[in-house]
Amino acid sequence: MEVAASAGGGGGAKTPDEVIAKHCNACHGTGLLGAPKIGDAADWGKRAKEQGGIDGLLAKAISGINSMPPKGTCADCSDDELKGAIHKMSGL
Ligand code: HEC
Repeated sequence: MEVAASAGGGGGAKTPDEVIAKHCNACHGTGLLGAPKIGDAADWGKRAKEQGGIDGLLAKAISGINSMPPKGTCADCSDDELKGAIHKMSGL
């Protein structure tokens, strides 16, 4: 169901704020389970370096890594929606 955007009813793409508030903030808001905190540029920057930039981080967010669940629990998020959330949380 990757083409649901045009099917109506859903209201189109989710904004980064919506995705973060609904899915990512639970862990990334407080650093639960060792998650990099929202706005912690040093932690995100180090991770981005290790993964080869924001696209590398996106790949890990999709697959999941350690305590980070696949797609950060947003099973119906598109890659772009996840990337928008990562962009906003990391400041990258
Ligand atoms: C259940 C808690 C939890 C939720 C919900 C969650 N994360 Fe995470 N996330 C983690 C943890 C813990 C890590 C650190 C994993 C590690 O490095 O061991 C992490 C790491 C990451 C990383 C860095 C991966 C890397 O390679 O270092 C990205 C990107 C990320 N999360 C994106 C997201 C996004 C986007 C969402 C919301 C759609 C989300 N996360 C929701 C727990 C969570």
